[in-house]
Amino acid sequence: MTTIVVAMGEKNEIGSDNQLLWHLPKDLKHFKDLTSGHPIIMGRKTYESIGKPLPNRTNIVVSRKKDWFEEGILIVGSIKEAVKFAKKIDENIFIIGGGNIYEQTMEITDRLEVTLVKANLEADTYFPKIDHKIWKMTEEICHEKDEKNQYDFCFQTYERIEG
Ligand SMILES: NC(=O)c1ccc[n+]([C@@H]2O[C@H](COP(=O)([O-])OP(=O)(O)OC[C@H]3O[C@@H](n4cnc5c(N)ncnc54)[C@H](OP(=O)(O)O)[C@@H]3O)[C@@H](O)[C@H]2O)c1
Repeated sequence: MTTIVVAMGEKNEIGSDNQLLWHLPKDLKHFKDLTSGHPIIMGRKTYESIGKPLPNRTNIVVSRKKDWFEEGILIVGSIKEAVKFAKKIDENIFIIGGGNIYEQTMEITDRLEVTLVKANLEADTYFPKIDHKIWKMTEEICHEKDEKNQYDFCFQTYERIEG
């Protein structure tokens, strides 16, 4: 199973200036719970935005740059290679962004784990439009904002419609 994990606002916005748009500890915990113990695939810019390998997961970073090495991550030259390596480690693999990588992996993905943040924010990076002819929401759990989580948000699971 290949799963995309994303947190997006109401206009599908996901990032600005190579950073996230909000601080939602509950979403970070959700992300950790989903991905821990499984390989994660990300673009070079997302890796730089996080700044370090995420623990307890094989971090696979996609880049076209040559002669780039960093401790604790596997750097590959294509998405195909990233998926090939990830699948050797585990049947369940997670694609964690950013916008550029999401655009190229929607077609090879079986499931979307979306955090829909109830906000409308300035951004420079967006998630592709979710086509409801292709994707069906199978679960939704919503949370209200509180002193630590600045916006209302919903965890949504989408599965690919068969056929
Ligand atoms: N809200 C969320 O859930 C979420 C999740 C992740 C990221 N983000 C945000 O998204 C933004 C970053 O996204 P982005 O779209 O700018 O960048 P990105 O998708 O993280 O990374 C793009 C880079 O990946 C490499 N790449 C892409 N396609 C490739 C391919 N087919 N083969 C080889 N390498 C390839 C290239 O690296 P090189 O230039 O090194 O060749 C490219 O510059 C940030 O603002 C981040 O905070 C948000």
